[in-house]
Amino acid sequence: MATHSLLLLPGDGIGVETIAEVERLIVFFNARGSGDTFVIDRDVVGGAAYDAHGVAITDAAMAKAQQADAVMFGAVGGPKWDKVAYEHRPEAGLLRLRKDLDLFANLRPAICYPALADASSLKRELVEGLDIMIVRELTGGVYFGEPKEIVTLENGERRAVDTQIYTSREIERIAKVAFDLARKRGNKVHSAEKRNVMKTGVLWNQVVSEVHKSYAPDVVLEHILADNCAMQLIRNPKQFDVIVTDNLFGDVLSDEAAMMTGSLGMLPSASLGAPNAKTGKRKTLYEPVHGSAPDIAGKGLANPIATIASFAMALRYSCDMLAEADLVDTAIARVLDKGLRTGDIMQPGMRQVGTTEMGQAIETELRALMA
Ligand code: IPM
Ligand code: MG
Repeated sequence: MATHSLLLLPGDGIGVETIAEVERLIVFFNARGSGDTFVIDRDVVGGAAYDAHGVAITDAAMAKAQQADAVMFGAVGGPKWDKVAYEHRPEAGLLRLRKDLDLFANLRPAICYPALADASSLKRELVEGLDIMIVRELTGGVYFGEPKEIVTLENGERRAVDTQIYTSREIERIAKVAFDLARKRGNKVHSAEKRNVMKTGVLWNQVVSEVHKSYAPDVVLEHILADNCAMQLIRNPKQFDVIVTDNLFGDVLSDEAAMMTGSLGMLPSASLGAPNAKTGKRKTLYEPVHGSAPDIAGKGLANPIATIASFAMALRYSCDMLAEADLVDTAIARVLDKGLRTGDIMQPGMRQVGTTEMGQAIETELRALMA
């Protein structure tokens, strides 16, 4: 029986409410009297950290994150911090975590629960049974490339620069993650880039092809232009299995994929580092794909499913609790089958519940499944 250390970073807005529902499940697991247990630590990040410490994340919180088996992250940001200096904006806390923990592989599964096929903005037949894994490169590209600045030119005009940079090593390691995942799923990878306008796209395409040839010739690889990928996702999403793409395209395509499953409130994610050379352990962070949703924050309305499903990913990828991970996913599906819905996925004839009631219902199902 192992003990896993979790750092909870609820952040801002609905992150606070959805992480509370993960804590509910942690308490449940710790109380069951058998199996692995958790020790939890907590800290602030984003606007909450700015208010308390004047930075988006403190060095002390970073040190805790470095030590933890997994970080459970809620969401950051909100209008309250719109005027904060760029380097202290809430998102900077999340970006520092990703960069300093070297969490280069962001896994964003888009699964359409059968009960939610009618909540999607696409027709049921397009999304029913949908199961896509977006593998987003998370520590490179235009998010981090330098220079990144706004300068005033001599003529008084202002000029902004962001820099898209990728090295072959960065592309190689994310491509391997995508091929490894594809082997356990539908054995197909789409690699999305813009080789028709970007040098980084040309290199991305070359390196993914090389990795395919030397490392995964058994997996089907298709190259696709990122704009076409966005279009094909809406036209015929079930043609996709794994999509591997860069940081910025991955940001956009994963929001698109999330919405097809019914709501942004449904999509979890895992961010993984490289295995440690000595221990084989990876640094990991889990977060819902949705943001802090300031419009509904603090009202008990948020959908906790994306955050709870992110916890299931933590059980799977960080804690080696595969059976429990599956049970959490099953509990979510059953609660949806029973007709419980938060506002974002509400449909006629269903019963609308708030954040807490949804969390409680999932815990109740889990308890029943494990009895
Ligand atoms: C995401 C978010 C972040 C990103 C923001 C909050 C910085 O949109 O995780 O998709 O752009 O990566
Ligand atoms: Mg995003």
